[in-house]
Amino acid sequence: MGKHIVIGISGGIAAYKSMHLIRLFKKNGYEVRVTATQNALQFVTPLTIETLSQNKLYTDMFDPNRTLEVEHISVADWADALVVAPATANIIGKFANGIADDALSTLFLAVNKPVFIAPAMNSNMFENPAVQHNLDLLVQRGCHIIQPDSGFLACGTTGNGRMREPEEIFETVDEFMSDDHTLEGKRVLISAGPTYEPIDPVRFIGNHSSGLMGFCLAEAAARKGALVSLVTGPTQCSARHHNIQRYDVKTAEEMYRKCTELADQQDIIIMSAAVADYTPAHVAPEKIKKGEENLTVELVKTKDILASIGKTKRDDQLLIGFALETENEFENAKKKLHTKNADLIVLNSLRTKGAGFRTATNQVTIFSKDGQSFASELKSKQEIAQEILQTALHYIHQ
Ligand code: CTP
Repeated sequence: MGKHIVIGISGGIAAYKSMHLIRLFKKNGYEVRVTATQNALQFVTPLTIETLSQNKLYTDMFDPNRTLEVEHISVADWADALVVAPATANIIGKFANGIADDALSTLFLAVNKPVFIAPAMNSNMFENPAVQHNLDLLVQRGCHIIQPDSGFLACGTTGNGRMREPEEIFETVDEFMSDDHTLEGKRVLISAGPTYEPIDPVRFIGNHSSGLMGFCLAEAAARKGALVSLVTGPTQCSARHHNIQRYDVKTAEEMYRKCTELADQQDIIIMSAAVADYTPAHVAPEKIKKGEENLTVELVKTKDILASIGKTKRDDQLLIGFALETENEFENAKKKLHTKNADLIVLNSLRTKGAGFRTATNQVTIFSKDGQSFASELKSKQEIAQEILQTALHYIHQ
């Protein structure tokens, strides 16, 4: 039996290309069901969709001829993945805001499997901050955005917003779905996000980490069959995979306790959190009132989680740390391999445009204890997560 793909079609001219996308999935052994919005059916017909997918189109939640099952739930359960192509600004807005007023947007809320979104719209619409913000939200919630490219648009202009060709969409999804199970039975511990160090009941010291890199690592490891423990500081990100056990913490001390408690049972430990190096020596019990011109908050060092796991780790455990540097990147990152006794250090440079905090993309260089280094290109954090795990696998199998 082939894998189950649900293709969601919203109302853009690129809907005609989705007919080819249905064919590509069918030809490659997938079972396909299609959900289309009423606007999409202005561009393509139910007859075409049903003939190509060899399944009944799901478009009307109140169809008098429907079966007695609750269709958006049964389709969501049936799906191994949802691919929305084309995704208009409107449907992206509904997805990001939890609006469920038609078959596709309702299905989206019910699906807890991987979701791929291929936007298609005029370039000004695509670059509009509202659309970009909605896409950012969807990335944080674990959706995969298949970025549009530049080219001739139906509105007569040329620009960014043209839906990726069906072949490219198919390849992205197919590669993802045919994921190996190379981490089956392995346990992976991942730390993610920032920590918040309280100063008083209303203030804290934090940092700009969004947690996305750690969440992408957790998803990628879970997809490869690993049982993942994800210890995360405060974040907007959400994890979708059932193999991920999430532990929410706030402070460096809480993260230290949870990670060290779990470390012993792990095969791979990836510390991607941006842990505060210092925390206030005393937390004021009441809000600090405005007084003198200068205020000094005494800070004390936090425990270094990576370094302490490095001290106790067994030879059969692979320990991966991150290094965030703004200067002397390579030397500093390599130094951390030794000072923290890590097997691999993943260097993010804040100097690379599009890499680091609050971006959906990253560019990393991975240094290994045996003196090798691997540099990635600037890619989505989901792809970078894959590369990090591929490198980890190489070392764990040695
Ligand atoms: N780390 C940790 N516990 C800490 C501080 C850092 O586990 N208290 C981990 C991070 O998760 C990361 C690695 O150590 O994997 C490196 O973090 P980074 O902030 O780059 O380095 P620091 O050790 O904090 O050193 P510096 O800030 O001086 O560069």
